[in-house]
Amino acid sequence: MVRETRLAPDDFIQPFFVCPGRDVRKPVAAMPGVAQLSVDQVVREARATRDAGVPAIILFGIPSHKDALGSAAWDDNGEVQRAIREIKEHVPGLVIITDVCMCEYTDHGHCGLIKGREVDNDASLELLVREALSHVRAGADMVAPSDMMDGRVGAIRSALDREGASHIPIMAYSAKFASAFYGPFREAAESAPQFGDRRSYQMDPPNGDEAMREIALDLDEGADIVMVKPALAYLDLIYRAKTEFNVPIAAYNVSGEYAMIRAAGINGWMDEERATLEVLTAIKRAGADLILTYFATRVAQSLR
Ligand code: PBG
Repeated sequence: MVRETRLAPDDFIQPFFVCPGRDVRKPVAAMPGVAQLSVDQVVREARATRDAGVPAIILFGIPSHKDALGSAAWDDNGEVQRAIREIKEHVPGLVIITDVCMCEYTDHGHCGLIKGREVDNDASLELLVREALSHVRAGADMVAPSDMMDGRVGAIRSALDREGASHIPIMAYSAKFASAFYGPFREAAESAPQFGDRRSYQMDPPNGDEAMREIALDLDEGADIVMVKPALAYLDLIYRAKTEFNVPIAAYNVSGEYAMIRAAGINGWMDEERATLEVLTAIKRAGADLILTYFATRVAQSLR
């Protein structure tokens, strides 16, 4: 009766990796229980997610071809776009969020356009806008830019407004750190940078004040939900964000956080179910209103 924080299925957002083909389930080695799924399989899993009471999913695309511009990102017949249409038709009632970023679509694996050896921030904005508009044309309910280019929230917001999509909210990956905990994701999304790293656009882990400035900028540009990512090593920033801004805060329980718990569980080193609930409860207690987690469907099923 006096418990202060309770997890519920509607706290969660379930991520999916959509790959080309039919009947494809390609397990991600570093994320036991997670697989790249072709559109038909995503539809199946999305139904299980909805039936467990999880209100929303976020889609990442693995295209069949990559190029320097990442042009598959705005292909209206791309994996993500087709998945959106199929899920809308066959699994109504689920909120479909899309991750907007170039790293899965570019042959160099960076989150924006490369000029020389550097990411060209401003030239990347136009590409991200094209990607976001294509997702919304396909029926996405919300877009979530994760690239960390400066100005992308404002650019996407004005493009959506101009194209008659002023009702589509933006969940901004605002305080996104250059983190070792994304390692397994880069295998899942086949998005590891081919040279250099993401430190020119993602944040330096020691910087909490800067994280608050990044959040303030994104809110100014029109973000509706702001995200702290990763979650576990940044619980202080989730708390600060919630108290300083009092807007909906999302936290991403990222691939490496999932992998650690699964690995320990599979090896019998920890009670996996208890550890999972403890971690997710802590993220909520810190102030997260929404938690993106690969555990979403499984935990929601156990909570019902
Ligand atoms: C794309 C993106 C990444 C994640 C979400 N969107 C990877 C990265 O920035 O390298 C990480 C998610 C996870 O680790 O679970 N930019």
